[in-house]
This record gives sequence, structure tokens and C-alpha cells, in this order.
Amino acid sequence: MDIVILPTAEHVERLTARLVADRVRAKPNLVLGCATGRTMEGIYDQLVALSEQDALDFSQVRTFNLDEYVGVASSDERSYRHYMNRHLFSRVNLNEGNTHVPNGLAEDLDAECEAYEAAILAAGGIDLQLLGLGSNGHIGFNEPLSGFQSRTRVQPLAPHTREQNAGMFGGDPEAVPTTAITMGVGTILDSREALLVVTGEHKAEILARSLEGPVVGVITATALQFHRRCHVITDEAAASQLELKEFYRDEVSHLPVWRDYLDEIL
Ligand code: GLP
Repeated sequence: MDIVILPTAEHVERLTARLVADRVRAKPNLVLGCATGRTMEGIYDQLVALSEQDALDFSQVRTFNLDEYVGVASSDERSYRHYMNRHLFSRVNLNEGNTHVPNGLAEDLDAECEAYEAAILAAGGIDLQLLGLGSNGHIGFNEPLSGFQSRTRVQPLAPHTREQNAGMFGGDPEAVPTTAITMGVGTILDSREALLVVTGEHKAEILARSLEGPVVGVITATALQFHRRCHVITDEAAASQLELKEFYRDEVSHLPVWRDYLDEIL
């Protein structure tokens, strides 16, 4: 796992977008795992800017989102489908038919989850998975004690998560759906490459526990310690409680691939 620490959230957004753009250039039909949340907004803005500047072609890119609220229609502005349309899908030349977000209104939710897993497999698996970090350490909507081999399924949301996400629901945690469809921890671990993107001081403690703490089921992000190729991109504020942060900085500075990115971004 490489941990790249950058001065500000803006640097983090630029580097992450640059990396995604490079993967799309290297593989025009990339299978991109998308995440939602405030952290991702700036990343999608930067990606759109890059795609305009460098005529990046998304026409063959396939996307799979991590999660969606159960009971919220895709046309509803609080849905993650709506979020994705607004922040990315409608702003680049992605084919709508190539974009996948679980259907939170499916009549048979278990069948929807199974079909979602099958669609990921049929696409050849996820090449690059974007991940944010919930303040309780969840990835996707994998709440505490989600099995590390879990697959896409319906997951009840923790009270903490409903509070964290109340903003989109008029500030009322009770108005946040009680369940969501989420890719499982196992689904995420199967991705060929993953990028965990974390910014802000409010995430410093949970980031340190996720990366340096013991692997525990109550913090599902700790499962990323088993990922074959996971990079963490963070700002100084979120990295502030990492015990070995000087080592990570030094390590990354010796890896040519990161050195090139850092020269460009800083
Ligand atoms: C939601 C999403 C997660 C995301 C998290 C972080 O809970 N389901 O996938 O990582 O929010 O959100 P933010 O970036 O707003 O802190």
C-alpha cells in the first residue's frame, strides 16, 4: 500500500483525477468503480476539467457505483444515480448504457444485488475502484462487521452513517433511508487497483485506525490492508495522526511513478 500525502485537498483532487485519466488513456474501456460523497465532488470536477483540456475519451469506459439508497428513485436528487449524473456522467462523453448504479427501487432487491455482481463479472471485473472513507471507517456502505468476503447486498445503515449523510435529507437523520445496496467488502477487494481518497482533519483518527490499526471487522476499511494494490491519497490534515507518516512520505519519494506525479502536482 502506498500512502501519498499532499498539502491540501485540492492537490488530492488533482492527483486523483490525473491518475484516473491516465488509466482511461491506457485502457479506453476501463472498468471504473465510482464512489460518491463530498470528497469525490472535487475529484469529478477535476476529471471533467482534464477531459476537456486533454480531450479524454470516456465513450468506452464502463462504470459501477459502490452503493445506492434503497427506496430512493434514480430521478430523486438524493439518489447516488442523480449525484453521478450531476457530477460526472452528464459532463463527459460516457455512454449512459455503460454506467451502473444499483437500483434502489428494484422489486426484488436480492436479485438486483446478484445481477449487479454478475454484471461486474461480465465486464471483466473492476480495474480501478475509487473509495471514500466514512467517518465510522466504512467503505461503500459496508457498516461495522460487514464480512470481509461479503458481496453486493442490502445493508442496514448505522445511526452514525445516517447522521453523517443527513445533509442531503434536510438535515434529518430520520429521513435518511434505513438500508442501502452496497458492493461487499469482498467485491471491493477483488478490484485490480483501488484508490482510497481521504481529506480533512475530521477523518484523521479514523484514517490512522484504518491504515495502521489492527484489521478489525468493526472498521471495514481495515480490510484494505489485504488489497493487492491499494493507494491512499490524503491531505496533510487527514494524515496528521499517521504514526509512520514520514516513512510513507520517504517511501513514495523513492518510487518513480509517484515522483513523476508529485513533480507535476506540487
Ligand atoms: C457515504 C458513501 C461512501 C463515502 C462516504 C464518505 O457514506 N456511501 O461511499 O465514502 O459517504 O463521504 P464524504 O466524502 O462525504 O465524507
